[in-house]
Amino acid sequence: MAANLKISPLKPMSDFQDWARTVALEMEHALESLLPAANTEPARLHDAMRYATLGGGKRVRAMLAFAAGLVSGADPKRIKIVAAAVEMIHAYSLAHDDLPSMDNDVLRRGKPTCHVEFDEATALLAGDALQALAFELMATHRLAESTETQVRMQQLFARACGSHGMAGGQAIDLANVGKQITLPELEFMHILKTGALIRASVLLGADCGKPLGDAEIAHLDRYGKLVGLAFQVVDDILDCESNTEKLGKTAGKDQDANKPTYVSLMGLMPARKFAAELLGDALDAVAGFGENALRLRQLAKFIVERQH
Ligand code: IPE
Ligand code: IPE
Ligand code: MG
Ligand code: MG
Ligand code: MG
Repeated sequence: MAANLKISPLKPMSDFQDWARTVALEMEHALESLLPAANTEPARLHDAMRYATLGGGKRVRAMLAFAAGLVSGADPKRIKIVAAAVEMIHAYSLAHDDLPSMDNDVLRRGKPTCHVEFDEATALLAGDALQALAFELMATHRLAESTETQVRMQQLFARACGSHGMAGGQAIDLANVGKQITLPELEFMHILKTGALIRASVLLGADCGKPLGDAEIAHLDRYGKLVGLAFQVVDDILDCESNTEKLGKTAGKDQDANKPTYVSLMGLMPARKFAAELLGDALDAVAGFGENALRLRQLAKFIVERQH
């Protein structure tokens, strides 16, 4: 249940903000150089891939990979590749999520959505190509001590993206428009559509370091599952109570589109309480890692208390 956040007084949240800014900046540079140059053919497709990925986004998934890597003493160079791959999948999922055939959104990260800036076919292909590039990166760079671990990382990543993960969750989301669903059904949808990639970010970041024991991996996995669910619960809350300017995407879309969300099923206050409980449970899950999990604890708090 909701535990108090125990962060060393020597490391206040301002220190977290500095760390988060540094990770976001480094990720921007890494993504800049890993994405195809905009002037190489097919230039319009490459331009769209860069447009969808660069110059915006909180980079929470990248930060989770870095934070988990601190637990296993991972080389930041390796984590950067994993984090870039995850952010590319995330950018692709957003470009597709915004398409007229899905959520039909025109604003993303404070800019026109990819299909508005380019066209639908290009946004679709940019997403396809970002997904392929993410897997190419994971196969090209040495990410773990053993080949077995690296292959396992690929499997974990693929599952998080596919029909048992993000894409599956998106399919359930679309199938549930205008429907009355139960809380367990909603939880399943959220764990897949958003939770799976967030959970993978944590595990892949940790896999870049020294091998952890089964119990340690189970604790990280539980943390990833809880913050992944909390992330989408808070996304539902913000869609309802924040505004378009703050979010950089159109607020109030879920209600307009008749989507089942934690707010529509539970109400705003119980949804907030549920997110706070998930935060407490996530903090408990990594309590055993002590100071090594400081960034994971701070990130969980950020995910639940963020305003955008
Ligand atoms: C938005 O994700 C889509 C969801 C999975 C809820 P983020 O809120 O992480 O989007 P960016 O990357 O910061 O734009
Ligand atoms: C999207 O969920 C989850 C993805 C896999 C992209 P939403 O549809 O709620 O995300 P936003 O609110 O458009 O960012
Ligand atoms: Mg959606
Ligand atoms: Mg959407
Ligand atoms: Mg949303």
